[in-house]
Formats: sequence, C-alpha cells, structure tokens
Amino acid sequence: MSVLPIVQWPDARLTEICAPVEAITPEIEALAADMLETMYDAPGRGLAGPQVGAMVRIFVMDTGWKEGKPDPIVCINPMLMEVSEERASNAEGCLSIPGVSAEISRPAQVQMVWTGLNGGRYVQSFNGFAAACVQHELDHLDGVVTFDHLDADARAALEAEYAA
Ligand code: NI
Repeated sequence: MSVLPIVQWPDARLTEICAPVEAITPEIEALAADMLETMYDAPGRGLAGPQVGAMVRIFVMDTGWKEGKPDPIVCINPMLMEVSEERASNAEGCLSIPGVSAEISRPAQVQMVWTGLNGGRYVQSFNGFAAACVQHELDHLDGVVTFDHLDADARAALEAEYAA
C-alpha cells in the first residue's frame, strides 16, 4: 500500500464525471487500499477516486476512526436510492480544498446502494455527519465540489480565501 498524492483544486480532474467501475480487478483492490491509507494519512474521513486521479466511481469513507471507532467502507458504483425531504447543514471540508470549510445544506438522511470490494451489493441508510459525507463523496464522482453548492457571493468569498 502507499499514500497517494491528493489532487488539489482547481485541478480539472475534480470537475469531471467519472466512469463506472466495470470489474473488481486487482488494480481496483490496490487502488482501494491505497485510497484508505491516503485518507488516514491526510487525515480525513472520506476520499473519492478523482481526488487521487483515478477517474472511476469509487470512494472510501470512515466516519468513526477519529473517535476510536474505525468503520472503513469501500463504495464502488454508489447510487442514492432515497433522500429525505428534511435537510441539514454541515460545515464541510475537503482534502482537495485544504483550509476551507463550506456550510452546505443537504438532505439529512439518505439511503445508498453500492458494490463492495467482495462484489457484494450493500444498501445502507446514513444520517448525521455520515449522510453529508456520502453525499460529498458522491459529488466528487460527478465532478461536483463544495463550492458548487454555494451562491455566487459565498463562492467568490471562499474561493478568495482559498487562493489567499
Ligand atoms: Ni472532498
């Protein structure tokens, strides 16, 4: 395993739509292991393929490890099945936009389906911080970053803060 360099905004790879993972090959297994190691090293709670230059639909997440409750998951070809009408706002950071935190409103609960590294199909509901995290990582697979959720004034202010 190795720690990979993290792609930094405004790299164009962060604005591209990623292709589905066609098969769980040894390369995908190695990528997932490297992504987890890179996420823990950063340190972060989620990391998506394009953030390490892998333009395929995969992300890793572990929302509990910083609190001593590690729960790593590898999500391949993830999709949202259900989103709540209720919304919640969280301050979201991004390993590709270091030092900037954006207040973003999203559905408070989501249900997601994905393929695991073992080829199995997983369905799980997420709420709280984990719900924001899975939506943030899914965004990366569609070329969407935190800035894209902000109105023009808020975006300009945060982009200026990031550039400073
Ligand atoms: Ni991010």
